[in-house]
Amino acid sequence: MKVMAHRGYSGAYPENTMLSFRKAAQVGTDGIELDVHMTKDGVLVVHHDERVDRTTDGTGRICDMSYAKLRTLNAANLWKDRYAPEKVPAFEEYCEWAAGQDLFTNIEIKTDNTYYPGIEQKTWDMVVKYGLEKKVLFSSFNHFSLTRMKGILPPEVELGALVEHESGVKVYPGAYCEAAGFHCYHPPIAALNNENVADCKAHGVKINVWTVNDMAGLEKLYAWDVEGIITNFPSVPMAWLAAKKA
Ligand code: G3P
Ligand code: MG
Repeated sequence: MKVMAHRGYSGAYPENTMLSFRKAAQVGTDGIELDVHMTKDGVLVVHHDERVDRTTDGTGRICDMSYAKLRTLNAANLWKDRYAPEKVPAFEEYCEWAAGQDLFTNIEIKTDNTYYPGIEQKTWDMVVKYGLEKKVLFSSFNHFSLTRMKGILPPEVELGALVEHESGVKVYPGAYCEAAGFHCYHPPIAALNNENVADCKAHGVKINVWTVNDMAGLEKLYAWDVEGIITNFPSVPMAWLAAKKA
């Protein structure tokens, strides 16, 4: 079971900052999950929300903002009593750093609320520029973005279909992902059940689950033998899994 640090080590450091990524790497996380948007002038940046209001000292939408303006904001604003200011990272800055790290990156294309034309090709081009082709997977709630990625990526680069919640309608995530050509299913833990797990396994679809921050969740997912978990506290499952193997 692989451990992915959700927005970096976001349980203890400002989410989606280089600080949170470095801290996740320091505890030996297998992978990092991050979110990619695009500024008004076409620069790929790492941030969760479409707007900067929640996480920074600024206001407005990333798609309306220049990269230069975005870089004046403090991405550690929610933690300002504890940590020095951090900038919203350019995706390029992250890729340059990740090229020297022994970890993989789950790149979430954040086109679920705002569609950034060309973001799929641009993101892949950056991955290629830094030689990260074998160390990435792509995920998105916008399955049209995933379908676009499919037309761009070599077939072995994995795509993960993010879903928001259990709709109450019986779903066949394995059959769906296989038919769509998506390698992985990325549900929230509350939406996973025995039937979904069995359907994914029957169709050879891997399961990566978010956001797993408690021991009960870990135990459950370990028993289901899922491919990966996405957590705000990567040190905990890393230590727990190491103890199991010892
Ligand atoms: O990729 C898992 C998780 O990050 C999806 O939700 O809203 O945290 O990007 P969100
Ligand atoms: Mg995400």
